[in-house]
Amino acid sequence: MTQDELAKVPLECDDRLPGRKQMRDDVIAGLRRSQKMIPAKYLYDEQGSILFDQICDLEEYYPTLTEMGILRDNIDEIKDIVGPNCLLIEYGSGSGDKTRILLEHLITPAGYVPIEISKEALLASAKRLTAAYPHVCVLPVCADFMQPIKIPTSIKAAGQRLIFFPGSTIGNMAPEESTAFLMRCATVCGPGGGMLIGVDLKKDTAKLEAAYDDTEGVSAAFAMNVLDRFNRELDANFDSSKFCYHSVYNHEDGRIEMGIKSLADQVVGFGNSEIAFAQDEVMFTEFSHKFSLGQWQEKANRAGFDIVHVWTDPRQLFSVQYMTVQS
Ligand SMILES: C[S@@+](CC[C@H](N)C(=O)[O-])C[C@H]1O[C@@H](n2cnc3c(N)ncnc32)[C@H](O)[C@@H]1O
Repeated sequence: MTQDELAKVPLECDDRLPGRKQMRDDVIAGLRRSQKMIPAKYLYDEQGSILFDQICDLEEYYPTLTEMGILRDNIDEIKDIVGPNCLLIEYGSGSGDKTRILLEHLITPAGYVPIEISKEALLASAKRLTAAYPHVCVLPVCADFMQPIKIPTSIKAAGQRLIFFPGSTIGNMAPEESTAFLMRCATVCGPGGGMLIGVDLKKDTAKLEAAYDDTEGVSAAFAMNVLDRFNRELDANFDSSKFCYHSVYNHEDGRIEMGIKSLADQVVGFGNSEIAFAQDEVMFTEFSHKFSLGQWQEKANRAGFDIVHVWTDPRQLFSVQYMTVQS
């Protein structure tokens, strides 16, 4: 399908996005903390989603290719474990490229509910998937998945609910947030439901650091894009030449810490508010937690899931795990 033809596919999403005021309050509150931190969800405006897709194509960024490989290599087994007529719900669906592997193989899925904060990315992907899989009822929801979300019902009778949460997006959450999120997922799945989740594994520091700070500078552009977004949407006046990208692996907390470092003592305006930055001060934009298989199992069990199957790649870089709600 051409871009023009895709644009004509009629599709609307159920829109429950946080408004500008909410975004401003969240960002200012994060920048007033002693360790400055902005919520990672604000990295994903239209341009942020485009840059994230470019990251996924980088050779250094092993998670995407590795997870796609695991899904492709094991899709027959996944299809049999999930069974027919599932309602497929995906949090943080992005481009939906990994979803294609599921939609091509799952047995008569009752519907597909992509949930995404980046509206343009959501609509573009939902249109592409509707055109490619016309037998699947696509029900996009534009919302913040950290909030409770009412799941739309498909016109087809659904069997079990299957939550798909790839991309190691779970690793972006703080430990207590990811446990609470998984607990909500267990409630959304309900009895008999399951979750297919991508969990990134602990590994050599050099490989990790290269993945999140590539030589082409795409990861840096992705993080720095948020400054343009704040200038445009929150009336801020960041001068991006006075900031740079920062990314290191924190061994103690088992996570890559990404952020933006101030190159000078400076004050940035946000409409009527001002935020001071010291030279070399870092505002965190995103974490990416890495897990051992044992750590993940403990977390999943605590949140109300049993792990049924773990698939990994031969180098044990990444895992895809199928978990069911504890009875
Ligand atoms: C790490 S990317 C993964 C994208 C895709 N699932 C993949 O596996 O390549 C995270 C995705 O989640 C979306 N996202 C991040 N925070 C979100 C939130 N709080 N609510 C809804 N979507 C969110 C982003 O827009 C992005 O598409």
